[in-house]
Amino acid sequence: MCGIVGYIGQKDATPIVLNGLKRLEYRGYDSAGLAILENGQIEVRRDAGKLERLASLVQESPLHGQVGIGHTRWATHGEPNAHNAHPHLGMTGDVVLVHNGIVENYLDLKEELKEEGVVFNSETDTEVIIHLVERYLGAGRTLEEAVRAALLHLRGAHGIVVLSKDEPDKIVAARMGNAGGVVIGVGDGEMYIASDLPAILEHTRDMVFLESRQMAVVTRSGVKVSTLEGQELLHEVQTVSWDPVSAEKGEYRHFMHKEIHEQVRSLTDTIAGRVDFDHGRINLPKLNLTPELAERIERIYIVACGTAAYAGMVGKVLIERIARVPVEVDIGSEFRYRDPIVDENTVALAISQSGETADTLAALEEARQKGATLWSIVNAIGSQAMRVADGFISMQVGPEIGVASTKAYTAPLVDLYMLAVHLAELRGVINEWERKGLVADLRLVPDLAGRCLDREAEIEKVAQALVEVRSALYLGRGVNMPTAYEGALKLKEISYIHAEGYPAGEMKHGPIALIDADMPVVVVAPRDPWYEKMFSQIEQAKARGGRVIAVATEGDERIPPIADHVLWVPETPWMLSPVTTVIPLQILAYHIAALRGLDIDQPRNLAKSVTVE
Ligand code: F6R
Repeated sequence: MCGIVGYIGQKDATPIVLNGLKRLEYRGYDSAGLAILENGQIEVRRDAGKLERLASLVQESPLHGQVGIGHTRWATHGEPNAHNAHPHLGMTGDVVLVHNGIVENYLDLKEELKEEGVVFNSETDTEVIIHLVERYLGAGRTLEEAVRAALLHLRGAHGIVVLSKDEPDKIVAARMGNAGGVVIGVGDGEMYIASDLPAILEHTRDMVFLESRQMAVVTRSGVKVSTLEGQELLHEVQTVSWDPVSAEKGEYRHFMHKEIHEQVRSLTDTIAGRVDFDHGRINLPKLNLTPELAERIERIYIVACGTAAYAGMVGKVLIERIARVPVEVDIGSEFRYRDPIVDENTVALAISQSGETADTLAALEEARQKGATLWSIVNAIGSQAMRVADGFISMQVGPEIGVASTKAYTAPLVDLYMLAVHLAELRGVINEWERKGLVADLRLVPDLAGRCLDREAEIEKVAQALVEVRSALYLGRGVNMPTAYEGALKLKEISYIHAEGYPAGEMKHGPIALIDADMPVVVVAPRDPWYEKMFSQIEQAKARGGRVIAVATEGDERIPPIADHVLWVPETPWMLSPVTTVIPLQILAYHIAALRGLDIDQPRNLAKSVTVE
């Protein structure tokens, strides 16, 4: 996960920046760097590898100054090496930048800048940003104005921090979308900047959180916040708690809310380091998927529980469709008691946030005894599901504290998609053109998730209309059938409202009898190959007096006239649509539970890690 730290004050910036980066280490990274303003010049040290490597570079060639920025990087565009590590300098060496996020339109911007004579030093998408800043500085603008002008060219979600030798008493930071936060820590004659609170909590508890499309000009004595359009804003300094766990919650009331909002970043980090956009390839080194294994796999059992099992159901559609390998999804607690047919050509793939779920581990054990290869997609580093597997994909979402899983649902959807593409390539079942298309679509995911989050206020209004309901039905089909299951699970576990997820095609075989004016029906109906079927489902529910809440694709004109409420999602390639369709349902459940005043992060009777059978 990329991390950002910055400092401007009276002290030596180097150890402060290095320490801050160290505190973000748990998020994972594959290169690191820092830039210090030393005697009026910008000095950069950066390299692939861990922070120890950066620290030794600094020891060999020390840096002293009172202003500095640093970064830990998970590679997205370009491999982890010194050239691609942040910070990135402009051509003159007078400005320097660190960045979190993916510049979706970087190829177009790179071409444009090359035509203007810009020479690129890295393969990163990030480098276009600093050259854009330099372009506007060259036209006589201040650093703040140049950053503002540069940002208006970028598509995607971003957190950036920039330093200029010509304006040595300030750092400019900005946030667009939710590629991670930008928080400014207020000290006495000194200020701190970070992507995540833990990086700076040891220095101050007084924080200014930047919202999306806001910029900050940070000096030793204060911070000026403005919109990207240039309108100055009054900002609030929030004092975060001394309790380290509550402190992590930052600007949010609940961890679940924070974690829902972290999804742009967690999805960026899920892709980072695994996707080579230039060649359209997926790289999952820890999975140990050899061409020989890919060739001989006859069947994959996905074993998981709860939310993780629903992610697995999406994975079944994706792997069968893309890699043409039969997949069965087994609930962990069922697998071992039914003597499943497993041999050495079988893969058992566990999905688990905690990596310690007893039923999932028992399923892996059963598969191991029958000779299967074991894989896991797991969040908690070093957990049992990671250790016992022959290969794994780590989720890269950071700690998930809210009991109701959110970011640890969307990340494995993308992991399974990447696994399907990788497997398909090794088995020779997709051509290069198809593969490149599927890989290119991944670049869109973080921003699409961000656009779902931007609609939170609308979803909150729908939550107000549903706060008193006693029961709800969630319907979906195809790749979004599990979205209905997951949406219903989110609602029931945190709001204690009875909710049932159902395959829409099964309604006529019984559950349709439940529909009346008191039964809200949440219909997941994005523009995917099952759209027409879902549309007629809405008509059927309405014909029986049901109250329909539809998840629909922006621009859909057929659904609004017949649905009571619409939860909009942006147009998303259908195989990735479960990532976007679930977000409004997470937000809906969250707000219903919040309006009911419930203990959202620790719902009754539930534990985050279920280590008993
Ligand atoms: C629901 C939820 C649970 C977990 C399940 C498996 O929001 O969090 O259904 O998904 O208990 O947990 P892990 O993923 O840790 O194996």
